[in-house]
Amino acid sequence: MSDIKKQITEALKDQQEIFGNFLYGKLEPSKKYTYTHSKETAEVIETGASWQVREKVAKDINDNLFLEDFQKSKSLDELYNLTHECQKCPLGKTRTKFVFGVGNPDADALLIGEAPGADEDRLGEPFVGRAGKLLNDILKAINLKREDVYIANILKCRPPNNRDPLPIEMETCFPYLQKQIELIKPKIILCLGRVAANALLNKKLSLGDLRKSVFEYNGIKVLSTYHPAALLRNPNWKRDCWEDVKKFKSLLDQLVVV
Ligand code: URA
Repeated sequence: MSDIKKQITEALKDQQEIFGNFLYGKLEPSKKYTYTHSKETAEVIETGASWQVREKVAKDINDNLFLEDFQKSKSLDELYNLTHECQKCPLGKTRTKFVFGVGNPDADALLIGEAPGADEDRLGEPFVGRAGKLLNDILKAINLKREDVYIANILKCRPPNNRDPLPIEMETCFPYLQKQIELIKPKIILCLGRVAANALLNKKLSLGDLRKSVFEYNGIKVLSTYHPAALLRNPNWKRDCWEDVKKFKSLLDQLVVV
């Protein structure tokens, strides 16, 4: 195969990893999906509301649309049982599997990605495609195995054609991650990519700014680095990612000793 053909094939494989079997330039927001909560609520979220308003809106959605009391779960298994048939947002209709999370339920480190892709949707486990293999290698480079940490996403269901998660979807799904964090009680969180970090921290920062600082979520240290799928597209970023994960591991080691 000629070099250029090889490059195009690789680029298309990356696209497939990220977007599934779908090629697109710019996606228009789907008009197909209608949410059952009020227009005002959607607007509040779309326009980027304060943390207090976000909490209230998330509470409204959960009070109104989801009757099972998952908040009382005492373990991740219980939480999974109460949430995996979720239909709080339209992604419940289009997903194949609910991708709850995987790993050590008592992990000191929690890794958070954005949303399941095509492979994750099919298998019901986060980070199992090409990006997942790279994530396993990144963990190995800092002497960690997938089973040592816990891995979850902001969204538990795959957005169709891997489009970006909508603010309302992240808002609706967020209480599940919040509860997972409460049960796992990690000492440190590593956000994989800008979307995951901003959603967790309720910020609107560039990845550059997110990477520069150690943030806190409910008293837990939060670091951010590149999303592995971004590293597949831009291997030049691997060097910076390596610096981030070394910092993450050294902080993790300090926190575990304490
Ligand atoms: N990308 C993510 O953010 N999460 C996954 O689980 C897979 C790919």
